Amino acid sequence: MKILVIGSGGREHALCRAFQKSKRVTKIFCADGNAGISEIAECVSIKPTEIEKLADFAGANAVDLTFVGGETSLALGVVDEFEKRNLKIVGVSRKAAQLESSKSFAKDFMVRHSIPTARYKTAFSTAGAKEILESGFFGETDAATVVKADGLAAGKGVVVAKNRREALEAIDDLETIVGKEAVEKIVLEECLSGREVSLIAFADGENFALMPPVRDHKRIGDGDSGANTGGMGTISDRLLLTEEQTAEIIEETIKPTLAGCRAEGFPFRGILFLGLMMTDSGGKVLEYNVRFGDPETQVILIQLESDFVEICEAIRAQTLDKISIEWRLGSAACVVLASRHYPNKPQTGDIIYGLDLAKNHESVEIFHAGTARDERDHFITSGGRILGVTAVGDNLSEAISRAYEAVNDVSWNGMQYRRDIGG
Ligand code: AMP
Ligand code: GLY
Repeated sequence: MKILVIGSGGREHALCRAFQKSKRVTKIFCADGNAGISEIAECVSIKPTEIEKLADFAGANAVDLTFVGGETSLALGVVDEFEKRNLKIVGVSRKAAQLESSKSFAKDFMVRHSIPTARYKTAFSTAGAKEILESGFFGETDAATVVKADGLAAGKGVVVAKNRREALEAIDDLETIVGKEAVEKIVLEECLSGREVSLIAFADGENFALMPPVRDHKRIGDGDSGANTGGMGTISDRLLLTEEQTAEIIEETIKPTLAGCRAEGFPFRGILFLGLMMTDSGGKVLEYNVRFGDPETQVILIQLESDFVEICEAIRAQTLDKISIEWRLGSAACVVLASRHYPNKPQTGDIIYGLDLAKNHESVEIFHAGTARDERDHFITSGGRILGVTAVGDNLSEAISRAYEAVNDVSWNGMQYRRDIGG
């Protein structure tokens, strides 16, 4: 089979690796990839936003299956375009992608289907959002409030404000940070407390199969300090959720979400990602994503023992209930290595040292996110998040220490990472 993966980050490197392990795969293309991906796939320079070009490429190169990494292509309707042309693709339709591309759409959907989530109000302008706050958000005038831009904002559109003053500031800043379109609506939410967990499932419209649960570390600094990022590291361990918690999330969230999508005419066929807050009154949905997470994918797919192509085919054929998906027993951890100044404008072009040493560690895989090659063929940094050093272990502490041992071999000028992933 010939495979096309759309995207260029660590998630896509992990996806390409999962496809490479399948005996049925003879060739992988990646649009547009990175220097690490190019060691196992042929990178083609088409952007994830160039939907028609992607479909042209898949058609002209007789690609048997395309897998969409990120939300941008999904929100632009890449799946609808491929299906119109009878090209095989895994991912949700443009309509289902609204669960991620519009926070107000997602919140209204959750209310329609009685899915547990934080209370909220939607404003239609900056002034409207301030009015809602001034009038006493849910009866309290100085409560912690979460301010969310409606549209896609690559993780930058959410501010957890401790009080009304911070919330007002966040509303004022939002447009500058994420642009006019993303703030045509603003969602104000009650602030929940608890432990966060990401639960991701394969879904075929009707049936689903859970992946091992994951915890992301979103802040740049140790002890969850500093700015929000795309994710600085992840752990995956069965103990992140108890059996009772998982059963409750399945009944109260996953099943009603899939049933709601069917009832509203956009069956959810692809990757369903729940960002959950485990509160005293049960798991509540913070957000839906309609794709694999980054760096969640790295710790999930490194544990996958089944053939990834077979899972993709079951999603397309609506036969997820007929296959069994095997996962390695144990745990996994991923430590993200980022450039100086990330998540602000990162410094790039630095030579990366020690990669060969690092990847020889037992049970370790290194996924490239923002790498390129210089004229002398050295790997150099070319983005904010550069590498995801990922390890498996019989338990979490083994996985974490293996990942950090490999991290110790890698360096470049300005490299930064968290020392407390999984702590
Ligand atoms: P989101 O993109 O909606 O997941 O929000 C990004 C991050 O903001 C989440 O991972 C949480 O840490 C935080 N967050 C979002 N919504 C809430 C909420 N209602 N209460 C507390 N924290 C939240
Ligand atoms: N790591 C969070 C995300 O992919 O949305």
